Amino acid sequence: MNGKARYPFLDLATVNSRYLDGLHRAASRVIDSGRYVGGEECSSFERELAELCEAPCAVGVSNGLDALRLVFLAWRATGKLREGDGVIVPANTYIASVLAIVQAGLRPVLTDPDPRTFNLTAEGIEKACSEGSDVKAVMPVHLYGRVAWDDDISAAVTSNGLLVVEDNAQAIGATARSKGLFGTRTAGALGHAGAFSFYPTKNIGALGDGGAVVTHSRELAEAVRALANYGSDTRYHNIYAGLNCRLDPIQAAMLREKMPDARHNAARRFERAVAYNNVITNPRVIKPLISPQVTDCVWHQYVIRVTDGRRDALKEFLAQRGVETDIHYPVPPHMQPCFAGLNHGPLPVTESLAGEILSLPISDCTPVTDAAAIGRIINEFN
Ligand SMILES: Cc1ncc(COP(=O)(O)O)c(C=O)c1O
Repeated sequence: MNGKARYPFLDLATVNSRYLDGLHRAASRVIDSGRYVGGEECSSFERELAELCEAPCAVGVSNGLDALRLVFLAWRATGKLREGDGVIVPANTYIASVLAIVQAGLRPVLTDPDPRTFNLTAEGIEKACSEGSDVKAVMPVHLYGRVAWDDDISAAVTSNGLLVVEDNAQAIGATARSKGLFGTRTAGALGHAGAFSFYPTKNIGALGDGGAVVTHSRELAEAVRALANYGSDTRYHNIYAGLNCRLDPIQAAMLREKMPDARHNAARRFERAVAYNNVITNPRVIKPLISPQVTDCVWHQYVIRVTDGRRDALKEFLAQRGVETDIHYPVPPHMQPCFAGLNHGPLPVTESLAGEILSLPISDCTPVTDAAAIGRIINEFN
């Protein structure tokens, strides 16, 4: 995206300009500290993220893919998962969710989502468990910022004895309607582990790559921390053959400037979602659900479905009128060349969604009046 359109999809310079003084101060703090790996910025960031999530432990790591991968590697290292165990994952997720499973020597069990919420369902979990006795874990992906957690999912997870790692790359600050396994409701702390991405385009984005693991388990947090630091628990003592996947303190410092705004920004995004939903009346367009409980979706993306095979035509129609859009994601992971050999059952919902979905601008810097104007342009399309 070049940011020059009348209605840009996402203008990161504008998003970050709201934090400019704080970001400069944070950068100076790190430069002056002389501490460029680990240290006070990282531990303060971890404490603040854990507080936001109402969980006892957070570990800063290099990015969201590594956060997921480290959780699986930690479960393998501590004997909770074995090579080849199945992990249920929604098939319409971003490819990183599936890469993490495969790269940890586990087997992705791809499952169709509910087309209304775009998220994993309890029925999908039950079906996957009934088909594979080696299914040991599930990865609810809170896609587009909407929490994939309710009483039925909680019951399915518990009755099948699954480990739960949430892919919370897109839903920082969201709150589930139902309690998680440890009694709290914050996305990323509902299951045994939550993986966060702070890629610059995320609701809370670093100025580079960043990620984190949040958990209620000190054992898991310690294993993740060691694995992300060459497998070392204390200096020059390596209990695992680990990786180097640490969060840089410069990014921790940037994130500390922005993270207090997570819920406020989500509320701003909600206003834009409401504006779109109120204005769009085009019968070819299926609008996303807006729940009365504001906080169960932090609107990382506002995704419409365009019926009758007209998605690409609408995308082009909007582009001609200065509206930048995007598609999350045009090719599902199982249809990517790298996963040509992957075993999976039929995934009709995922495959038809990939041809229908269209993401409209919804950053907290998109004026509400722009959302309404874009909605009116969409109504002119037939
Ligand atoms: C759903 C989902 N999972 C995982 C990731 C991976 O995060 P990262 O880009 O920080 O590796 C992303 C973000 O790109 C994502 O959107």
